[in-house]
Amino acid sequence: MCGIVAYIGQRDVVPVIMKGLHRLEYRGYDSAGLAIHGPSGLEVYKRRGKVSELEDWVQDKNISSHIGIGHTRWATHGEPNDVNAHPHLSPDGKIAVVHNGIIENYESLRRHLLAKGYTFRSETDTEVLAVLIADFQKEHGFDLERAVRMALHRVVGAYLVAVLSTDEPNTLVVARKGSPGVIGIGDDEFLVASDATPIIEYTKRVVYLNEDELAVISDKGLTLKNLKNEQRSPEIEQLDLELTAIEKEGYPHFMLKEIYEQPKTVRDCLRGRLRANEATIKLGGIREYAEHLNRAERVVFLACGTSWHAGIVASYLFEDLCHIPATSDYASEFRYRNPVIREGDVVLVISQSGETADTLKAIDMVKERGGIVLGICNVVGSSISRETHEGVYTHSGPEIGVASTKAFTGQLAVLTLIALKLASERSTLSAMRLNQLLRDLDQVPQKIEEVLTQNDHIKAIAEQYAKVKNMLFMGRGAQFPIALEGALKLKEISYIHAEGYPSGEMKHGPIALVEEATPSLFLCFKDGNYEKVFSNIQEVKARKGKVIVIGEQGDAELEEISDAFIGVPAIDPVLMPMVSVVALQLFAYHMGVLNGRNVDQPRNLAKSVTVE
Ligand code: G6P
Repeated sequence: MCGIVAYIGQRDVVPVIMKGLHRLEYRGYDSAGLAIHGPSGLEVYKRRGKVSELEDWVQDKNISSHIGIGHTRWATHGEPNDVNAHPHLSPDGKIAVVHNGIIENYESLRRHLLAKGYTFRSETDTEVLAVLIADFQKEHGFDLERAVRMALHRVVGAYLVAVLSTDEPNTLVVARKGSPGVIGIGDDEFLVASDATPIIEYTKRVVYLNEDELAVISDKGLTLKNLKNEQRSPEIEQLDLELTAIEKEGYPHFMLKEIYEQPKTVRDCLRGRLRANEATIKLGGIREYAEHLNRAERVVFLACGTSWHAGIVASYLFEDLCHIPATSDYASEFRYRNPVIREGDVVLVISQSGETADTLKAIDMVKERGGIVLGICNVVGSSISRETHEGVYTHSGPEIGVASTKAFTGQLAVLTLIALKLASERSTLSAMRLNQLLRDLDQVPQKIEEVLTQNDHIKAIAEQYAKVKNMLFMGRGAQFPIALEGALKLKEISYIHAEGYPSGEMKHGPIALVEEATPSLFLCFKDGNYEKVFSNIQEVKARKGKVIVIGEQGDAELEEISDAFIGVPAIDPVLMPMVSVVALQLFAYHMGVLNGRNVDQPRNLAKSVTVE
């Protein structure tokens, strides 16, 4: 939530910041702004709306500088407007701050500062920090670094902050707690950003900020210190990211590009791990705790959003293939219950970004209770990948579209690998069945390719249904979480109300919504639930409901009964979620586009939910 980019070096800072903000816009896009050191002090340009609006607005203002900070916002405190947009200035105009995260004790800090005679312009928590830093400078004569450090000692919450001061026009101070931050080190230039995407075209040499760490960057170089003022020498890492990975490459939207990347991303995820010919699975990320997992008496999956749906699919797989009791829970619910974690339990957290606040807090809670936590993350080096005991990366590459697609199939691929490995260790499957599943898993990328060839057909179906107001999505077994995911995708990017249900629950409520104007989408495969789902479809038809069915290619009976049919290639039901979901992603994508939505940046959403 919210993206930060800052620069100090020889270049004109304005285009660098604008380009960086465009790259970070997936993190929030209700307002944007930048602050630079101009000839007569700090200059702030900010406004409601997207980065392109800010860019157009500042274009003819003829501003330039060699140092600046920028921000794209997802509002937490105060509505998105010009005043609440970042950067925020202290009342004396000497301090400018951009902030990603949340200052939980901002009310008490605000009262303290009001009592000292300060006034506030915005409703944001961030402005409090700008005033607090300025107050430390004024009262104690601290330099910028010390004033920021002292102010952050007073703050409860999460942040990545970047701060400029008129007293030190060649210094940039950044600090992190709970929100990610990367520093790019170029030739006589430094960039700071919420992720590496604004950095890669200038340099591949980066330093990741640690928790509770503060960086002072100036013409003298980079100094890293923790909040206790202890210095550490920067560990420079080489970015493993290409520019093409974050560009649309001819696709109209990132979402479509990412849907089409799935054969490759699933292949990348399986590469080096699945050896179908030798019937083995190698998971380099889980070594020390492999035995723990092998002996687990219960497995709990924790995640939010789409990742939670991957957790439900996984819980079915683990019970079915490994005979381990398994449940999937929203991290945001789990952490506010009083959950029982016993010895012998293993918790697997799933997160694309690796930064989701609730998931991170749930990890802390499990660890405090003595549990073992393994992570399934996409973003290498993310907070969740660092906070978990061990884990497996999905290797799906940067996912820019806010609605998750390729990260989801990557999560399913990793979870299937773990389940099959465990089934092999626990001897819960016959050698024949295990080998067959491994060979079939190897075929998944090809099956996804076959689904993608149906894009035009799926678009034609979307054209027929684009104007509906409500939709139901139903499936059974492992296709139930896929129904949830289909409904989530549709509502996220088309704003059409959609509900996902296990089809067995249809008669307990959702059937009351069935009418001609409310289509139902069923996932119906030859997986032991076929007849039951088929009956549900007939029940909807009998009530004049329109039915879209995703089933196996060549299933004439199913096609006959459907108003619209999407046939996907046959594969073992255990692996079908990775294939069937692709048809739902394409359906949602076209419904969004046909309704004129910004599918890459749907309203009110953000990709990385770093506040609770
Ligand atoms: C947000 C995103 C979703 C994502 C969810 C969980 O809501 O828009 O696409 O599924 O967060 O994020 P995570 O990064 O933890 O998977």
